[in-house]
Amino acid sequence: MEILKQIAQEAEKNTQVPAYPRSVEKVIAAVISTPNFWKVVDLSDEPLPLVAEILKLLNKHGLVVFEGNQILLTEAGNELVKKLGIETFVSHRCSCCNGRGVVIEGSLKEAFEKFLKIQEKRPPAIHQYDQGFVTPENTFARVALADDRGDLRGKNVIVLGDDDLMSIALALSGLPKKVTILEIDERLVNFIKEVSNEYNLNIDARVHDLRQPLPEDVVGAYDTFFTDPPETVEAIKAFVGRGVATLKSERCAGYFGVTRRESSLDKWRRIQKVLLEMGLVITDLLHNFNEYVNWDYYEDMRGWQLTPVKEPPKDIWYKSTQFRVETVRGFKGFNDPIVGDIYNDAESSTT
Ligand SMILES: [Fe+2]
Repeated sequence: MEILKQIAQEAEKNTQVPAYPRSVEKVIAAVISTPNFWKVVDLSDEPLPLVAEILKLLNKHGLVVFEGNQILLTEAGNELVKKLGIETFVSHRCSCCNGRGVVIEGSLKEAFEKFLKIQEKRPPAIHQYDQGFVTPENTFARVALADDRGDLRGKNVIVLGDDDLMSIALALSGLPKKVTILEIDERLVNFIKEVSNEYNLNIDARVHDLRQPLPEDVVGAYDTFFTDPPETVEAIKAFVGRGVATLKSERCAGYFGVTRRESSLDKWRRIQKVLLEMGLVITDLLHNFNEYVNWDYYEDMRGWQLTPVKEPPKDIWYKSTQFRVETVRGFKGFNDPIVGDIYNDAESSTT
């Protein structure tokens, strides 16, 4: 146990990311399960910068070797695993819904087929706006989830930042009364406008930098919001706060993802506190609900500089937990201008 504690302390000192013996144990358990760096990050559920540092320290202590692009336990590593009784990860996720708790069926099925074709022509993710989008199944699973919770039918829905083409999926479902999107990237707004015209979707799509306060007419005008904020406490406060500012009243809902890839649990706790302080209740937390398609700019992201082996990610590794929040009495949004860099902290890896 001493060695886990020692590595955790060293890793925290080198990365400024909170680390526990349990963090080291989880990384070792992931290495038992897979030699692939990205899968180790995925399975361990620890922030990428911390996983990379822990692996380097395990290597320094002779417990792990890097052979080509493979991460393997040494004989000493295997002995430690036996001594501490560390076990491999075993998944029991539902294979029917992929653990999301909803399936795309019935009236949503036809809209989803259309969406699959439409999204093939979407503009690629670019680094400038820290973009990354989820799989089309994932986008539609969010529609299914929100409908399941009663947040779409006859409602005014707003999407703040729309890498995932949520607005198109929502409008194709035919459920909301109105769909608005605010998005900084003109390419995306133009694409959504074109699709909206072609399919008669009536999406209200506008170019807007969310660091600026919201256009006046969207404040207090919506029943439900969707957003996908950058992964710092400040950014979540700002972007979710914007979402909350668009809501009409109490008992309205918001949807967004928060990842473990760039967040320690200590940071998560601060994030949850910010949400509670805004007058929100966290009604749903769905682990690894969101799965991001690997983006082309991985070599430019901070995480790539940190990896102990240089193998491009092949399978999906960047996932996030889906949050659903609801406003109660006394809720308060955030619509001040955002100043300074709110995109980066010690735990971020994709910026
Ligand atoms: Fe299921």
